[in-house]
Amino acid sequence: MIVRGQRSVWLRSWGAWQRGLRQQQQLQLTPPGSLVRACLGGPPTRPIVDMSYSRHFLDFQGSSIPISMKKLVVTKLNSNFREAVSLRHDAPVPLPGDGDLLVRNRFVGINASDINYSAGRYDALAKPPFDVGFEGIGEVVALGLSASEKYAVGQSVAYLKAGAFAEYTVVPAKEAIPLPSMKPEFLSLLISGTTAYISLKELGELSEGKTILVTAAAGGTGQFAVQLSKKAKCHVIGTCSSDEKCSFLKSIGCDRPINYKTENVAAVLQKEYPKGVDVVYESVGGEMFDLAIKSLAIRGRLIIIGFISGYQTRIGLPASHTEMLPAKLLKKSASIRGFFLNHYYSEYQMAMKHLVEMCEMREIVCEVDFGDLSLESKFTGLESVFRAIDYMYMGKNIGKIVVELPHSVNSKL
Ligand SMILES: NC(=O)c1ccc[n+]([C@@H]2O[C@H](COP(=O)([O-])OP(=O)(O)OC[C@H]3O[C@@H](n4cnc5c(N)ncnc54)[C@H](OP(=O)(O)O)[C@@H]3O)[C@@H](O)[C@H]2O)c1
Repeated sequence: MIVRGQRSVWLRSWGAWQRGLRQQQQLQLTPPGSLVRACLGGPPTRPIVDMSYSRHFLDFQGSSIPISMKKLVVTKLNSNFREAVSLRHDAPVPLPGDGDLLVRNRFVGINASDINYSAGRYDALAKPPFDVGFEGIGEVVALGLSASEKYAVGQSVAYLKAGAFAEYTVVPAKEAIPLPSMKPEFLSLLISGTTAYISLKELGELSEGKTILVTAAAGGTGQFAVQLSKKAKCHVIGTCSSDEKCSFLKSIGCDRPINYKTENVAAVLQKEYPKGVDVVYESVGGEMFDLAIKSLAIRGRLIIIGFISGYQTRIGLPASHTEMLPAKLLKKSASIRGFFLNHYYSEYQMAMKHLVEMCEMREIVCEVDFGDLSLESKFTGLESVFRAIDYMYMGKNIGKIVVELPHSVNSKL
């Protein structure tokens, strides 16, 4: 029986058959012509279907999985997310392979680099259409046989993978992160938390009594840089754009929040920190980068986390006065190191495990921002991703921006 709008047993078998065809293609067991005939409607020639897999695949434990779903797709390379990305309403729900999980996304994270990705800056060869969104958490609703060794339907998982701005995402089981429960706070750890944790551990050389300057300190990753530096017994200065953010920063232990809209950051640093700062966690770029370099102490180090002030420009880079940089660094035996999370996968699992534990034990605050105070409404549904990105670039967010995806399909999960 084919149930309108829902996957039926027939469709699941079709999925297994389609998978069989894919396997044939990969193994090149079937001449391409017969595959084409099969796809054009003739009876499948000799689909290779692993019956154990197929049996397992039939076990959805009552979850209702639709045939099609909504997802965001980059259709034109552009750093203006609204120009670059379209909402598709009828994308096929992807089928998990043998080692995969099908995850129904519950919360997806907004990142400053979503607009770098939509502009094709992550991959010079990227050609639209392609999927977008870096991270999500959700429930496993179906899975392949090998994946079932470690996972089961109903389990909460997190993942990092392009294509999170969708109702469902296929995630290789070996890349998924099992979660103790479905809390949006965990989403704030996936990219934002781990970036602060790993970069400060590997490059920060933090120790008691050091002074650290965190820029965009009240944002997704800044909040963790502040708290982890306090845990390392450092003195923390944090820049942000409002008094409300300053109050938040104080509440998470920041010693000297600076609202750069009402205070001159360079003057504050010069006056209150005449010896300079030992470490900078820098993610704004442009003028903020220049003044951070100027404020470095002898043997100080600046970690480049990002340069958000330039992402909306055509080339994605802010203007900066770097001509004198070698001389400025030499004069202070100072250094600059870049950090990109993708290059630190070997540290990732351990960092995530520790952060989840700290979050569970309430040893760190994982502030999430659903846009409750935005002019329109809370960030709910994929349609609201566009608003959520605007909200970040208006500098409104406190903590990690999260979009909730309500479940439109009845489920027994
Ligand atoms: N290297 C990595 O692997 C990695 C990983 C994650 C994030 N990052 C970087 O970390 C930074 C923060 O990212 P996030 O996703 O956590 O965002 P976020 O900090 O949650 O939000 C961005 C914040 O930056 C400030 N801002 C927004 N637009 C700005 C503009 N045009 N000029 C100057 N400041 C602006 C605002 O805070 P204010 O109140 O301070 O204005 C805003 O709240 C970005 O540079 C991002 O690329 C890097």
